[in-house]
Amino acid sequence: MAQKNNDEQFKNVISHAKEYGFVFQSSEIYDGLSAVYDYGQLGAELKNNIKSYWWKAMVQMHENIVGIDSAIFMHPKIWKASGHVDGFNDPMIDNKDSNKRYRADQLLENKIDELYSEVAGFSDENKTKFGNFKAEILGLSDEGQASWIPNFIDKEDILNEAEYPFVNEASWRFVKKGLALEVEMNLALKAEDLGRLKDLIVDYKVICPISKTSNWTDVRQFNLMFSTQFGAMAEGSDEVYLRPETAQGIFVNFLNVQKSGRMKIPFGIAQIGKAFRNEVIARQFIMRMREFEQMEMQFFVRPGEDKKWFEYWKEARLKWHKALGTPDDKYRFHDHVKLAHYANAATDIEFEFPFGFKEVEGIHSRTDFDLTQHQEFSGKKMQYFDNDLNEDGKPYGNYVPYVIETSIGLDRMFLLTMINAFEEQDLSTDDKQDSRTLLRLHPALAPYKVAVFPLTKKDGLPEKAREIMDTLKFDFNCIYEEKDAIGKRYRRQDAIGTPFCLTIDHQSLEDNTVTIRHRDSMEQERVAIADLSSIIGKAVSWKNLLA
Ligand code: GAP
Repeated sequence: MAQKNNDEQFKNVISHAKEYGFVFQSSEIYDGLSAVYDYGQLGAELKNNIKSYWWKAMVQMHENIVGIDSAIFMHPKIWKASGHVDGFNDPMIDNKDSNKRYRADQLLENKIDELYSEVAGFSDENKTKFGNFKAEILGLSDEGQASWIPNFIDKEDILNEAEYPFVNEASWRFVKKGLALEVEMNLALKAEDLGRLKDLIVDYKVICPISKTSNWTDVRQFNLMFSTQFGAMAEGSDEVYLRPETAQGIFVNFLNVQKSGRMKIPFGIAQIGKAFRNEVIARQFIMRMREFEQMEMQFFVRPGEDKKWFEYWKEARLKWHKALGTPDDKYRFHDHVKLAHYANAATDIEFEFPFGFKEVEGIHSRTDFDLTQHQEFSGKKMQYFDNDLNEDGKPYGNYVPYVIETSIGLDRMFLLTMINAFEEQDLSTDDKQDSRTLLRLHPALAPYKVAVFPLTKKDGLPEKAREIMDTLKFDFNCIYEEKDAIGKRYRRQDAIGTPFCLTIDHQSLEDNTVTIRHRDSMEQERVAIADLSSIIGKAVSWKNLLA
């Protein structure tokens, strides 16, 4: 039942986003282009405000972080050096009856979730105990020496009942299968054993959701980068890639920025920009797109200080999310079991979307992998000379810095923001049925800060309203509306998240006051026009989020 409500809520957010001009399907009049979306007039504003929040928090609030804007096209060797040409693959499998293609690990993850769903029936105490047991087992399997674990989990008699009381739960049988499958899948992914992944899909009787059959092809690797032609290049090849992450544009400019900006380690380089991935399974609206935007920051540190900075950025980034007022239990960290080729530690910041906890941002400890690779492939030194003194009183000297990366998907953050803000309120009283749709956006993120309404279209009220709008518009994004009854105008602004509505009436002409109406409480008060700037300014100030 809860699932159905979540599905409905998600569908409502999607149709709301379209109806009010936040997000449209790309090329809609030509029946759309799968997993590509356009941002409409309000979406563009909201997106810009999310970008500003990130840029201010990361760049302007840190003296040792600067921002750049690198090109989308880069030398193709960059993607060879970064490992994307050879390693940016997903293990794919096709169902021969439906002709649909799936990510093999996602099919298995869905099966694991299905088996784990039985945990819901455990007692609270056993739920906690199982959570700890699972963490312990997955931790062991992560160490890579764990091929014995599935057999161990399978043998009930080895598990001590006192220590693991959940073995008595009726559905433990299914849950145990889920745990064994998760361990086996992690081992197969780590070893890039595609044959084993196929065996697991067959052994665990995974079926295609469309054809309902298990008539599968073998699992194959599928590269996610888009390529295009660039005109002749020196090496004779004219193939270039659309960048699959913005990070490499930062790495290749590391020394340019360090030298021209006289940056001292530790320091960071940030950038916001488009990235492209030929996602095979693109779904859940703007959650997984083929063209999307990333906000990434690479923080360059001394070798050996990477763990400390990894912890620092984990906490700092979660704080950024929570400052928006999102309830604590909506966020969690998810540490990676399978590490990307460049990382020695990685965690996701996950948000509870209507379809479950999913990654919004990744924090990765990328070691010196990328800079060392670029040094090797370009033949240019990527070193930093550190003349600070170490514990022995000697300069640290030359080294290739280590890197902590924070990487957040702007579109996912946009979706999260819309979902969090969307509310359908029942305002019915004994006499009257009533409701409103509200976007409870943080005022600093709202597309419009103020809506200006003359009560009527005559008696000089529109002129007075325009006069007020003309003063406010220098500091705030304002919208003017004179059509429809005031109540209807309020509701429209509630639906797009405008925190303040001003109504200009006949009294305004006499005493220079207006009614200001607050979106969330719907309260109205009479205030002097001269005070408007300060009232609105305080509420929408970035300081509320950044301080
Ligand atoms: N430079 C590291 C990197 O790109 P990632 O985990 O692949 O790491 C970072 O991507 C973030 O980009 C993700 O947390 C997610 O928010 C966003 N992202 C990745 N693929 C996406 C896609 N296909 N559509 C929308 N957002 C995506």
